[in-house]
Amino acid sequence: MKELELITKVNIYDWDELSDSDRELVETAKRATTTSYAPYSKFFVGAAARLDNGVIVQGSNQENAAFPSGLCAERTTLFHANAQYPQQAVIELAVAAYCNGKFLKSPIPPCGACRQVMLGVEERYSRPLRVLLYGEDGTYVVRTVKELLPLQFTGETMTE
Ligand code: THU
Repeated sequence: MKELELITKVNIYDWDELSDSDRELVETAKRATTTSYAPYSKFFVGAAARLDNGVIVQGSNQENAAFPSGLCAERTTLFHANAQYPQQAVIELAVAAYCNGKFLKSPIPPCGACRQVMLGVEERYSRPLRVLLYGEDGTYVVRTVKELLPLQFTGETMTE
């Protein structure tokens, strides 16, 4: 038997340690929580994607009475960015969540389906997608989605 140890590298930043550009992206994700439609969960998630041309696209979770028909903020944002700017790589994505009258203390961990879609975006543009997960107690930053999703299933998996 062999053991494979998978190590994830996450940098944790206090608010005043973030660059102006990172703060701008996180602020946009925080603002985007106000556009969330979450009457069922009351969990308001916002996301902001920075494209290679500098444009920032924002989005939020959109729920439906038939629960699986809704969509998370990350996927709403990435699909919107890709549909509006198909030629532009998405290079950064910030996420924030607001619940019970406040932003989460701990960074919002994206669900597995969103991580898979983020990975697909990286693959599509052959560029790392840097991810910033906002929490009141600190922002987690990973330089690529691969840090969030070890043992990735990609298009290459099917051509091996
Ligand atoms: N949600 C997101 O938008 N992003 C996440 O990373 C986790 C969950 C949404 C989906 C649903 O509208 C609500 O949060 C509760 O799961």
